[in-house]
Amino acid sequence: MPGSLHVAYITPEMVPFLKTGGLADVSAALPKALARLGCRVTVVLPRYGSITLPPGEFRGQTEVPGGGTTGYFVARTDDGVEVVFVEHPPFFDRPRPYGWDDDPLRFALLARAGLEYFRTRGERPDVFHAHDWQTGLVPVDLKALYWDDPTLRRTASVFTIHNVAYQGVFGTDVLGVLGLPGHLGAPFALGYGGGISYLKGGTEFAEMVSTVSPSYAHEIQGDEHGFGLQETVRSRSEDVVGILNGVDYEVWDPSADPYIVERYSPDDLAGKGRCKGDLLAAFGLAHSPDLPVVGVTSRLVWQKGFDVVAGAWWDLLQRPVRMVVLGTGDEGVQAGLAGLAQREPERFAVRFTYDEDLAHRIMAGADMFLMPSRSEPCGLTQMYALRYGTVPIVRSTGGLVDTVEPWNPATGEGTGFRFDHADGTGLIWALDQALDAHSDREGWERLMRNGMAKDFSWERSAREYVDVYHRAREKV
Ligand code: ADP
Ligand code: GLC
Repeated sequence: MPGSLHVAYITPEMVPFLKTGGLADVSAALPKALARLGCRVTVVLPRYGSITLPPGEFRGQTEVPGGGTTGYFVARTDDGVEVVFVEHPPFFDRPRPYGWDDDPLRFALLARAGLEYFRTRGERPDVFHAHDWQTGLVPVDLKALYWDDPTLRRTASVFTIHNVAYQGVFGTDVLGVLGLPGHLGAPFALGYGGGISYLKGGTEFAEMVSTVSPSYAHEIQGDEHGFGLQETVRSRSEDVVGILNGVDYEVWDPSADPYIVERYSPDDLAGKGRCKGDLLAAFGLAHSPDLPVVGVTSRLVWQKGFDVVAGAWWDLLQRPVRMVVLGTGDEGVQAGLAGLAQREPERFAVRFTYDEDLAHRIMAGADMFLMPSRSEPCGLTQMYALRYGTVPIVRSTGGLVDTVEPWNPATGEGTGFRFDHADGTGLIWALDQALDAHSDREGWERLMRNGMAKDFSWERSAREYVDVYHRAREKV
């Protein structure tokens, strides 16, 4: 019964307060979907310096061991979700959220402050739901520090791995600083490669472990995608589930998107043409309607495979295609993509910045959307692209396999194009298939509509999380 559940959701990012990737989207949309199912949801989030607090109130402060004085500011979203901002300016008032020497202390504080918020109020949520390495200590603290606490003892936790490649690896000395027992540095606990890993801690100690697509749940138990944690995940395989992320269609829907120049729907695709013109203008490219536009919005890091795109420059330049790239990340990858734009500025354009508005206009204005990921736990943007009738070209990995069905021109079924090999040959092979399909107007519109008809709304996934919360509760 979802109605009787109180979920305490601890996360390092959440839209609209702070976002570096898909976790922020999930942390807004999943709690909202859970609240719609009747759950009570409290999201705990750091109050980073960049956040302007919404209307709400201070609910006191506590001394958090290992951190110091921590304040709590509580607000409520329009969707009925309570958000607790953890205020500790020395740790969180900084120009970027991650990548500081004291990250192990900063995020240990987030975990501990989240637990202390409930303990000091004598409130026991039914389940703590923690996300990625930044909150990996939540399940650890519950077992190591709160096992005999009258309020929180035997409280269940669920840990979600959004990306197993980011592991929060630090020195074992951190344990002492945090007041955690030294034996937690052993290999059966947080011990990892001579240090400790917060991600491993969460995976070992939570009652249930989830990840963000069924394929990725399988992949991270193997050598190629486990990034060294495959044995740990395998040892928990009975308690590991893959739940596909959803899409918040209140934010990502071309028939209601305030960022795009003209709205459109599967019944009337005319507006998409104007969106294409708007996109080309935004990137300073000439408007010639026929030449297809490939859109990219991504973090430009190794995982995402854009070095392969830059490496395929020769073949790309030969293809009758334009490409617009929005992203931030590795300088080498940026330089490679910028090189394409320098060679053919009338067909290739790049913007190395973070721009929410442009991300929506790319979804609406592009004909195709490229995700050549080496590894993709779920991926949200290919699901956004489908809804916008922007045909995804993706590498066959993780959530991309679970969400993009290869187009079959003979049957008229399928939603996009997939390739297996993370190299230029694979990429160009898939692009050529897409270009071929694009030349058949009728078939292409069918392909677009197939994608637009897909429903990845959060409700189904939220129900699966409720099941996982119940399974976790049965284990304590
Ligand atoms: P990941 O979390 O691995 O980066 P996802 O596909 O799950 O990948 O989510 C990425 C999210 O970040 C999407 O909402 C996407 O639109 C957004 N995003 C990524 N880069 C940018 C950018 N440069 N500007 C605007 N939004 C971006
Ligand atoms: C991670 C993954 C991405 C996933 C997102 C939200 O950032 O890289 O694939 O969609 O988390 O779960």
